[in-house]
Formats: sequence, C-alpha cells, structure tokens
Amino acid sequence: CRSGVTVRRYCMKNPTKLRVSEAFLDAQVGEKVRIQGWVRSFRPQKQNLFLHVNDGSSLKSLQVIAPAAMNDPLLGFGCAVEVRGILKKSPHSKQPVELEAEQIWVIGECNPDFPFKIKERHSLEYIRQFLHLRCRTNAFSSLLRIRSEATAAVHSYFKNNGFLLVHTPTITSNDCEGAGELFQVEPPGTTFANEGSFFSVPVYLTVSGQLHLEVMSGAFPRVYTFGPTFRAENSQSRRHLAEFFMVEAEISFTESIEDLTKVWKSAFTAKIVINCYPKSYIFLSPLHLKDTLDDMLRKSFPVITYTEAIDILKRSSETFTFPTDWGCDLMTEHEKFLVKHCGNIPVFVTDYPHDLKPFYARDNQDHPKHTAAAVDLLVPGVGELSGGSLREERLDLLRSRLGECGLEDTYSWYLDLRRFGSVPHGGFGLGFERYLQCILGVDNIKDVIPFPRFSHSCLL
Ligand code: 4AD
Repeated sequence: CRSGVTVRRYCMKNPTKLRVSEAFLDAQVGEKVRIQGWVRSFRPQKQNLFLHVNDGSSLKSLQVIAPAAMNDPLLGFGCAVEVRGILKKSPHSKQPVELEAEQIWVIGECNPDFPFKIKERHSLEYIRQFLHLRCRTNAFSSLLRIRSEATAAVHSYFKNNGFLLVHTPTITSNDCEGAGELFQVEPPGTTFANEGSFFSVPVYLTVSGQLHLEVMSGAFPRVYTFGPTFRAENSQSRRHLAEFFMVEAEISFTESIEDLTKVWKSAFTAKIVINCYPKSYIFLSPLHLKDTLDDMLRKSFPVITYTEAIDILKRSSETFTFPTDWGCDLMTEHEKFLVKHCGNIPVFVTDYPHDLKPFYARDNQDHPKHTAAAVDLLVPGVGELSGGSLREERLDLLRSRLGECGLEDTYSWYLDLRRFGSVPHGGFGLGFERYLQCILGVDNIKDVIPFPRFSHSCLL
C-alpha cells in the first residue's frame, strides 16, 4: 500500500484532491478530501497523532489529526504523504480548519539524515550547503516566492509603461562592456581558433543585452530585456555571480540624465513587491527592515557627480583600502560610504571619467574634465545596483572612439545605427539579484538565486 503505484491507483477513484491553500478557503468544510504534500511537523501523542502538511501551494500547512493507531515508523518530519479525510472547522482561531484523517499514505519516506530539523530555524549560510534541498526550508521557499513575484512585477512595470520586451540573445559575438570578462562558447572537441569553429567567429555568453536593445531602439522608443547574463569575474564576493539576471531598458529620444533617472527610479520603486508577501518576507528578514525600505523609497534619490563623490571621499576621515583620486574607479567600500553619507538612501552618481566607461557612453564634451554621461545607482547594503548611460549617438565621435579601441571593424553594424536615423537615447541595466539583496537585506547574493554559479562552483 505504501508504494507510489498503489497510491496513484487508489487516488484515481477517490475524493477530489485539494490544494492546501484551498483548504483555508472554507468552501470544502464537511467534505471528504485528499491532500498530498510534505510533513512539516509531527507530534505523536497518546491518543492522537498531529501532523502539519505543506504542499507548496502557499506557506501555510494544514493540521492533520489522526488516531494514534495510524502512526507508522515511516511517517515523520520531511516525508511525502497523501492524507484522506474530512475537512473540519477547528476550534482554534489560528488554525481555522483541520483535516481529520481516515487514511495516511507515505508516498516517500525521509531518511533521518535529512539536514533540516523540525522546528529549527537554520541560517541561510547553513542551508546554502544543500543547494538541492534548500527549497524545502521556509526561508528559501519564501525567497523563491518573492523572486517569482518580483519577476512578474518587473514585466508588469515595463508593460504598463509602454516598453516592448525583446528577447536578446544569450550567445553573442560582442563584448558589450569591453571588460574581457567573457565565457567563450564552442561545442566539445572544436578548437577555439576561428576557422573550423561552429560559428566561424569567436562567440561568448552575453555580458549585457544592451547593444541588441540599441538595435531595437532604432524602431521602438522603449524596449527592455530581462534574462541571464554572464561574467567571468574571478570573485567569490557577496555581490558577484558568474551568472546573474539583469533587467535592461533602452529609451529613445532621451537627451538628459534626468530623463533617464526618472524612469530608473520609478522602475526601482514600482518593483517593490514585499507588501504582497509579508508572510514570506518575515522568514528572510526582520520586519523593521521593510518599514525602513518603505520609508526610503518615498524619498527622492540624491544625484551627485562623480567629481563630487571623489570630493566627499577625500574630505572624509575614513581610511579606504583603494585610492580615491579623480580617475580611479569607485570600489564597493567607496560606494557604501557614499550611500551612508547621503543618508542611507539610494544615490545616483553621474558623469564618470570618460576613460572609465565603455565605448558606447556619450562624451560630455562641454565638461571641464573629460567625463561621460554615465550613471550608477548605489543602494544601501549592496553598493552598485545599476549602471547606465546616455549613448554616443554622434557618428563621428563614436567612430573615433571605436577607432581608438581598435574596434571600428567589429562594430561596423553599430556605427550603421548612427548612420541611419540616429537619435539621442540611453538606458540602464539593473542586477536583479542585487535588487533582491537590497529589498530583503540579504547579505550574500548566493542566497537570492536558485542555483548560484561563481568561480570554482557550479554545483548541480
Ligand atoms: O554596470 P554594468 O556592467 O552595466 C551594463 O552591463 C550595461 N551594459 C547595462 C545597460 O546599460 N544596459 O552592469 C549592470 C548591473 C550592475 O550594476 C550590477 O547590479 C549587475 O549588473 N552586475 C552583477 N550582478 C551580479 N554579479 C555580477 N558579477 C555582476 N556584474 C554586474
């Protein structure tokens, strides 16, 4: 009777299967039902057996009461069960309905060395050791629910604001960021030499869909993409992954950084989904953080130039590991300091040195220092969350920049975009995992993605 086959045959002629979340709607009270799920708590007592069964349809578990005689050595915390019985109103207000079991079937027993223990609240670090099992914990299943909601919220924000979704390619021949952090792709057995390789040119996993979005922005004024992005960054840091998800938007007929940051901020704020999921949220983060976050998002975000940022860093009494001279890149320690300095709210830093930014960033020719119209959004707890720029739409300037980088031939198609009806445009890319880290206060990026990939680690 305990074999899966028997259970399935039995189920076919038996009562309607109820999802645990539906049980709480009360509609089936008094009826014979069956549920399938996993045992989340298990209390055998003298007369009765009490279980809580969760089937993943929500965070709620349904209490099951059975006569003690139904206890079975295979039954216990973590095992998969089917329970058939009568759904009853419960006298306890916290637990409005319960299932009075007539039969309990163990579908899959749970070995005692299951790493998660009953009633224990395990840390995210602990559960991360079991990537293949961690979705069975309240903390990680909550994260997955929030992540799924946030994904839907991203799409609904862009859809409601007139953006066209473009599926940009995963395999590409360009290095958009020019940082050389590429994973090269070839079928096994081929050499990486150009001749004889699959595509006849070297190809890579995408580091950004921006250039493909720019192609589309020649016909659609607002486009976005949201998908996996790859960087061969040899980092084990708490905010770097080799594969992460990026939300990227590109807007045509945009002439100023202000226009860009307006959309940027509203996209960031609109994606706040934690209010829909307070129950999930508490399994991950202290509730006071949610209030702080709500408060933070109501404020307008300060905008400072890179030059002002350098002044702030130089004038501070803080000792930094990395240099703070004009022309040096801002490091995490600088970004975090700037966020604190601005009142612990998100801050836009604009007009970076031209040499620090990729070839596509628009040259601020009228500035006394040689800067580009590039912006980063820095946020509490994380530092850089998002990067973007106005794009160089002027053919002559773009051609000479590409020439300086030795890229004129590689990007002849990109120059064409400026030859045929070029318009001022700009966009940004937002790291989705860093966004989740920020709104949930999660310290390590590996805890906000189902299957983290980073240097020396590609488990599963
Ligand atoms: O600043 P980045 O490199 O910008 C671009 O790729 C632009 N082409 C985007 C655009 O304008 N369409 O990356 C954007 C964001 C970063 O701010 C960061 O949040 C995230 O992507 N990111 C990473 N997230 C996790 N792990 C990594 N290794 C990341 N590298 C960048």
